[in-house]
Amino acid sequence: MTYNYKELGLSNTREMFEKANKEHYAVPAFNFNNMEQMLAIIEACAETGSPVILQCSMGALKYMTKEVVPLLAKAGVDRARAMGSDIPVALHLDHGPNLEAVKEVIDCGFSSVMIDGSHYDFEKNIEVTKAVVEYAHNYDVTVEAELGVLAGIEDDVEAEHHIYTDPEEVIEFVEKTGVDSLAIAIGTSHGAHKFKPGSNPKLELSILAKVEDKLPGFPIVLHGSSAVPAEYVEKIKKYGGELKDAIGIPDSELQGAAKSGVAKINVDTDGRLAFTAGVREVFATKPAEFDPRKYLGVAKEEMKKYYILKIKNVFGSENAYTAAKK
Ligand code: G3H
Ligand code: 13P
Ligand code: ZN
Repeated sequence: MTYNYKELGLSNTREMFEKANKEHYAVPAFNFNNMEQMLAIIEACAETGSPVILQCSMGALKYMTKEVVPLLAKAGVDRARAMGSDIPVALHLDHGPNLEAVKEVIDCGFSSVMIDGSHYDFEKNIEVTKAVVEYAHNYDVTVEAELGVLAGIEDDVEAEHHIYTDPEEVIEFVEKTGVDSLAIAIGTSHGAHKFKPGSNPKLELSILAKVEDKLPGFPIVLHGSSAVPAEYVEKIKKYGGELKDAIGIPDSELQGAAKSGVAKINVDTDGRLAFTAGVREVFATKPAEFDPRKYLGVAKEEMKKYYILKIKNVFGSENAYTAAKK
């Protein structure tokens, strides 16, 4: 079955990002892998009146199947409307590997895609990004690209060190590709093990400032922005999980970025930690429980609670649209 995203009630990111940059907030891009996570994200955003990007990786698409993902996203839009909220909802491919994958998800009803050519050299990155932009724009689907490499796992390639984005390259890249938004590397990284406890993680905000200077008003994206909350790490370990002690990106580092040209901030790991902490707590404290609603429901509520706090304290996107009536 093929869909056009507009018939699913979804939006691309163009107007979302224009409004976010004008009003100095960032749109949350939260990954989902199942119905409970989708509902946690949508309900958190509908209750706060925040626009939202439902982010789906290739792995998530394979897990949920391409028959289910578009209808889950549509269900998310319907759920927000039933709650009385008019927030725009985008369905976005996270770390798209090539044009073939982009074509597949546009057929599935995605409204936005990332083409991750960050591991290629500059010229090849331009070439693959430009081809995706030319294709996607025929369908009014917006495109995110990436310049610079994040430490951690990036598109199945594990990088040990960051390669910060070179601000001198961004104008040429954006002009030659026609891309709609650009992910940059300024010290964030993917996954739960970003920095050792006791360290003081800092973003290279001077690079961000230089990029913004070169591309005034252009939507910038930050990947790898989870905070890895100690509360969840501790809870997971307390209830039998194995997790190395680690810390993520402090809220204070992201708050300034959200007010600047950063229009989209990606968070996946924190949602996974909140969800897992919820499941583990029920399993450990109520071992007789075997109704999935009783543990997945707790996990969903934990994830929703965390994202509501993040929207209010970090993204600044609260009340950008009509919030659901309580
Ligand atoms: O940046 C990658 C996202 O966290 C998605 O992860 O490929 O395990 O779904 P995944
Ligand atoms: P985290 O692993 O920090 O949540 O980053 C997620 C991400 O960048 C998805 O593209
Ligand atoms: Zn990412």
